[in-house]
Amino acid sequence: MKEELYKKAVTVLENNWKDSFSIPCANLYPFQWKWDSGFIAIGFAHFDMPKAQKEIETLLDAQWENGFIPHIIFHTDNDSYFPGPNFHRSDLHPLSSKKYKSTGMTQPPVIGFVLEDMYKISKEKNESLKYIETVIDKVFFNHQYFYSKRDPQNEGLVYIYHNWESGTDNSPIWDDIWATMNPPEYTFERRDTTHVDASERPSKREYDHYLHIIEIAKEHNYSDEKIAELSPFLVQDPLFNAMLIKSNESLINLYTLIGGNADKIEQLEKWQQKSKTSFNAKLYDEEIGAYIHYDLRNEKPLRFLSSSSFAPLFANIPSQEKAAKMVEVMMDKFGGKDQYLCASFDPTSDRFNPKKYWRGPVWINLNWLLFYGLKNYGFNDISNRVKKDSIEMIEKNGFFEYFDSRKEIHTDGKAGYGGNHFSWSAALLIDMLNN
Ligand code: DGY
Repeated sequence: MKEELYKKAVTVLENNWKDSFSIPCANLYPFQWKWDSGFIAIGFAHFDMPKAQKEIETLLDAQWENGFIPHIIFHTDNDSYFPGPNFHRSDLHPLSSKKYKSTGMTQPPVIGFVLEDMYKISKEKNESLKYIETVIDKVFFNHQYFYSKRDPQNEGLVYIYHNWESGTDNSPIWDDIWATMNPPEYTFERRDTTHVDASERPSKREYDHYLHIIEIAKEHNYSDEKIAELSPFLVQDPLFNAMLIKSNESLINLYTLIGGNADKIEQLEKWQQKSKTSFNAKLYDEEIGAYIHYDLRNEKPLRFLSSSSFAPLFANIPSQEKAAKMVEVMMDKFGGKDQYLCASFDPTSDRFNPKKYWRGPVWINLNWLLFYGLKNYGFNDISNRVKKDSIEMIEKNGFFEYFDSRKEIHTDGKAGYGGNHFSWSAALLIDMLNN
């Protein structure tokens, strides 16, 4: 075990802890983010279980009365971030939290599997299960929200209505959707580019698109029905849906451990069956040899390879045969000797940019999903390489938000980009070092 690095990771998490929740990193992201919180809780679970539990409890406390969990909870007034609470106006939705200001969009549903991981990590299994009993129904309610409000064609695949819901914020995949839109040129003051070099962040024009989708949702008070009808961005995302499916599986396991709850288990199994079937039928692209996104608004597949294409390995979605094909594609396009695994976008594409946010760099959370996903299917050597690459990038550069995938760039310790002292990079390193 790498003692020094481990200690540094613990310090990152301790410094980003704000009494009842964690920030992803100072200045750039000064509030609580949903999927960040989940990954952070897994890190804390290894050395401070009460904080891990509190992290999730705080997030779930911000759940809306319809089961929805927002992507950012604005716990404090902080003008180092744009767009803040006064832009998002979650109060427009009649069932939004009365206690917390938030956004009106969500992020990948990781909390189900996070709870199961916390249970597995815990040394006090009884105590851990008692805690889980106090929160699990909220997570079930959240899944119920997704299946009843985000699946208009009743396919078992839920939509996202904004690129920020995907978690892969400015992926080149969305370029095809931006090409169908022509939003106004908004006047606003970016804050992200005062903290981080503009070459590592989305462009002003991309932000116009991001804001425009939110303006449309706000015009309709964040009504799910209206969003499904009108949002220019409506996508079935393989990463998002894989997280939901993995979390379904974890909820089934946890309810089984708790005992009772036959009705909830039965419902989860029904969702699970339908979701997995549709996922394989609709999102697997034979020719590409991996999973892709589907543009529900324009009814067309978005045929691009990204790290999201491989995330279904984490949720046991592909058959062994499909998994083998995916790994072949991954190693062929992303896994050359001169590359760190795993770039966030196809390095052989002309849309690839190894410095810019989600347009190419390596992210530790996606690597963490791959580390376990590859192991699931017995690809132990490649799984270990993902872990080794992740450790090496952090050791050389620090706990950055994302990293250049080109090994040759990593000689002077400046190949880490975006925010520094980034919580999930620390949290998931702690978890990988323990495994
Ligand atoms: C940002 O501001 O870039 C965030 O990732 C949105 O979630």
